[in-house]
Amino acid sequence: MTDHTHAAHPSTTESGGSAADAAFWDARYAEKTQIWSGQPNAVLVQEVSDLDPGTALDLGCGEGADAVWLARRGWRVTAVDISQVALDRAAGHAADAGVADRIEFLRCDLGETFPDGQFDLVCAQFLHSPTDMPREEILRSAAAAVAPGGDLLIAGHAKFPEGAHEDHHDMHLPTPQEVLESLGLPDGEWEVLLSDEHERVHTWNDGTSVTRTDNALRVRRR
Ligand SMILES: C[S@@+](CC[C@H](N)C(=O)[O-])C[C@H]1O[C@@H](n2cnc3c(N)ncnc32)[C@H](O)[C@@H]1O
Repeated sequence: MTDHTHAAHPSTTESGGSAADAAFWDARYAEKTQIWSGQPNAVLVQEVSDLDPGTALDLGCGEGADAVWLARRGWRVTAVDISQVALDRAAGHAADAGVADRIEFLRCDLGETFPDGQFDLVCAQFLHSPTDMPREEILRSAAAAVAPGGDLLIAGHAKFPEGAHEDHHDMHLPTPQEVLESLGLPDGEWEVLLSDEHERVHTWNDGTSVTRTDNALRVRRR
C-alpha cells in the first residue's frame, strides 16, 4: 500500500473557467437525482478485481459508484470531482455502503490542481467533459501519480452512445493508442496490460438500453 497525502495543490483560481466548469457540472447533476447507473464501470471490475487492494485515486468520480466498489474491496480511495453536487451524492452512497471511512472526497478542477501523492491505482473512467478540460494534461499527471508497480486505468468512449448529452458530440474521442502516445511514458518504464475497443450494451437508469463502443487502456509502472 502506498503512502500518500490527501491534499490538492492550491487552486490557482475559483473564478473564470474553473467556476464556470464547476457550475456546468453542478447543473448537470442537479437536473436529476441520479445520472449514472450506480454500478461500477465494467472495465474497472474486469481489470481490478484480481488486484490486491492498496491506495486508489479516482479522477472525475461522479456519483461515486467506482469509488464505493473499490472501497468495498478494501482499497483506500481518494475520489476527486469538479462538482460538489456529485461529491455530496457520492459521499451519501459511501455512507450508505458503510465505506465512508475508506474514501476521501476531494473537490478540485483537475485542469488546475492535482491531488498530491502516489497511488497503487489511478483510474479515469469516462473523464470526458464538454468544457475546456485539458484531458491529456490531466492524464499525464495521472500517470505521474502512479506508484512503482501500480496501474493507470483509463476508460473512454470510442463513440458517444445514442442518448448521450448533446454537448459532448463535437469532442474528439481518442483511441487507446492515441491516449498512450499522449501520455508520453518513458520507454521501458511502463508495460501495456490492456489496449482495446469493445462494444457492450449499456442500460440507462430509465431502463432503456443502447450499444456503446468504449475503449480502455491499462498501463503498469515497472
Ligand atoms: C462523464 S462523467 C464520468 C463520471 C464517472 N467517472 C463515471 O464513470 O460514472 C465525467 C466526470 O468528470 C467530472 N469533471 C469534469 N471536468 C472536471 C475537471 N476539470 N476536474 C475534475 N472533474 C471533472 C464531471 O463532474 C463528471 O463527474
